[in-house]
Amino acid sequence: CGFSGPVLDVLRCRPGWQQARNEEEWDFLWCDVSWLRENFDHVYLEEHVRICHFRNHYELSRKNYLVKNLKRFRKQLEREAGKLEAARCDFFPKTFELPLEYHLFVEEFRKKPGTTWIMKPVGRSQGKGIFLFRKLKDIFDWKMVSMTVCSVWEITGEGDSSQKDETQIETYVVQRYIENPYLIGGRKFDLRVYILVTSYSPLKAWLYRDGFARFSSMRFTLNSIDDHYVHLTNVAVQKTAPDYDPEKGCKWMIQQLRQYLTARHGTGLVEVLFADMDNIFIKSLQSVQKVIISDKRCFELYGYDILIDRDLKPWLLEVNASPSLAASSQEDYELKCHLLEDTLHVVDMEGRLTGKEKRVGGFDLIWNDGPVSRGGNLGALVNGNFVANTHLGCFNDRKKQLKELFGNLPA
Ligand SMILES: Nc1ncnc2c1ncn2[C@@H]1O[C@H](COP(=O)(O)OP(=O)(O)O)[C@@H](O)[C@H]1O
Ligand SMILES: [Mg+2]
Repeated sequence: CGFSGPVLDVLRCRPGWQQARNEEEWDFLWCDVSWLRENFDHVYLEEHVRICHFRNHYELSRKNYLVKNLKRFRKQLEREAGKLEAARCDFFPKTFELPLEYHLFVEEFRKKPGTTWIMKPVGRSQGKGIFLFRKLKDIFDWKMVSMTVCSVWEITGEGDSSQKDETQIETYVVQRYIENPYLIGGRKFDLRVYILVTSYSPLKAWLYRDGFARFSSMRFTLNSIDDHYVHLTNVAVQKTAPDYDPEKGCKWMIQQLRQYLTARHGTGLVEVLFADMDNIFIKSLQSVQKVIISDKRCFELYGYDILIDRDLKPWLLEVNASPSLAASSQEDYELKCHLLEDTLHVVDMEGRLTGKEKRVGGFDLIWNDGPVSRGGNLGALVNGNFVANTHLGCFNDRKKQLKELFGNLPA
């Protein structure tokens, strides 16, 4: 394990598991993506071994690759299933990769003067390097530097394209800024939702019932686009805000948010909202299904960033292959530990599952080479209707369920 905190705590507490020392053989590895990059192709890994990333995880988790894959998948859907189905992919704000698509971006920019755009470096996280702008001249300095470096790169022809992002120029995405976020108490928030993928071929994905909303500490306004405390909801940003209260934090459990929205808008609208989010999870995974190198030894716990706007439309901002598993409060610590314990239950090194389970602890199977319906057996319909097996923001009685599944759990 390359981590401390909840990950190491959960692995250490797992009955029958032992921590391997430096040179010892291991069966299970919770590593960061850099370990993968440096070692995966150079070490022999037996069939039974499990690792917490896919080899080319970045196809989904790099902001520019995500957009490229989604755009391609949308086109494919339009060809094969028609415009209506393709429109179900319209859940990410208009995005361009810079410097590559600068001219396309400028064309789009000129269509709607005064619109707010957000620039995000593709290789960074936690809000680092992000800025908002409304005038082209605001990205002029950035453009000059990156264009110069880019042409030097092209002339010397150094490196391969995969290294290009990291070593030569900093690639950015420029994205339409969602100017009408849903506000609670005048504050903006986004959602962190966890999806576990245990296979890409066939696609098998699990949705965790818990997650949280991350609030900004300042009231939302479009008057000051430079203030990160207003516009970026990353915990890493918000916890440096002058009035941040570590006791209270800046999070709501997703259950609390679902209740709040239901009380305000009624069950029907909120169910549509959550079904739209399910659509985001599935379509985004499908967009990389053929691209990700499916390897039985790999699984991935993704952290989705979703923003809801005032029309209750959810937008996909990014997918993290290394969502933060550090804890910002006791409640957060428990959430992360339960999430990790249940991840290990699903990954099932112990070989206790039958493969027919639709639920394991807080995880519900939402895709198993096709949509999964709620109800007893795999494939069973509820009263003859298809009801998707998703329970995001619903009651998470994971302990009871795990007891039923595994009998009496060890302490
Ligand atoms: N298009 C957007 N519209 C509105 N807010 C955005 C948009 N993109 C990002 N944000 C805000 O900025 C934060 C950081 O952006 P994100 O894409 O998640 O990058 P990072 O990898 O730095 O977390 C988000 O959590 C959200 O609050
Ligand atoms: Mg993020």
